[in-house]
Amino acid sequence: MTTTNDQSVSDAVTAGSHATESARAGLSNLREGAGGTVDQQRVATVVGAALEGIRAAIRENKVTYEEFDAFKRWLIAVSDTGEWPLFLDVYLEFEVEKVAAESQQGSIGTILGPFWLDGQAQLDTPATLPMRDDEPGTPMILAGQVTSTDGTPLRGATVDIWHTDDEGWYSGFASKPPAGNLRGVVRCDDEGRFEIHTRKPAPYTIPLDGPTGQMTQAAGWSPWRPAHIHLLVAAPGHRTLTSQLFFTGDPYLGNDVASADKPELTLDPQPTGNGDEVRSDRDFVLEPGD
Ligand code: DHB
Ligand code: FE
Repeated sequence: MTTTNDQSVSDAVTAGSHATESARAGLSNLREGAGGTVDQQRVATVVGAALEGIRAAIRENKVTYEEFDAFKRWLIAVSDTGEWPLFLDVYLEFEVEKVAAESQQGSIGTILGPFWLDGQAQLDTPATLPMRDDEPGTPMILAGQVTSTDGTPLRGATVDIWHTDDEGWYSGFASKPPAGNLRGVVRCDDEGRFEIHTRKPAPYTIPLDGPTGQMTQAAGWSPWRPAHIHLLVAAPGHRTLTSQLFFTGDPYLGNDVASADKPELTLDPQPTGNGDEVRSDRDFVLEPGD
């Protein structure tokens, strides 16, 4: 979503409403919801701290009624465009991920983001992701092995992978790429090895015509995410790793609007000698558990 657009339905509403649907599905299928009981003390502590943070911002900056009304209108627009998942994943998820990472061993991960989709093509390694006949972009191979923290290769491991096309569009959220484009769940071999043929993704701006993008630009912040490949690496009896991989030399590294890039997650793909194809090797270590 690299440009504002002339479509009748805005990019923000398209991406936002699909991200809302996907978040509903993801919250039920991907991560188990919280149990039925509400811990009153926990609510009072966490919600109280969040509210006090906002009240402090009002007090310390002498926020006016005009600004308070603008804030209300903005919150309503976030709901109307379905942008809550986008906004939350850009501006808050990285802090939640840091908390989760404190108790996770094995490979370093990062945020899930709003654009995961359930039910994508199941492929055996070596796999080529679903793509158009004339899919633009640099052909790229991502290969590696999934092991447990004790080094055991993980039979039955899967690599769920999704990323933008060469123009920064996600299938399922933008109208241009067909459904399922550059998404798949790759079954590793008996030694946990995988080899995935795809196209290098492009840097991406959050939708600029919606309230999240407008607030970002109103503050003078960069709306860009560096190019990245999303991954969910899973294996029986192991905690699923949620990660992203970035690329050395990307101009937006270190200035990711979603604060999700980490130096440990950077790839440096090398030419394979087959046309302009490049390849990166990356192993993943999963922690036993569920
Ligand atoms: C957003 C987009 C991403 O690709 C991502 O990984 C996280 C957030 C967004 O537009 O909100
Ligand atoms: Fe993304």
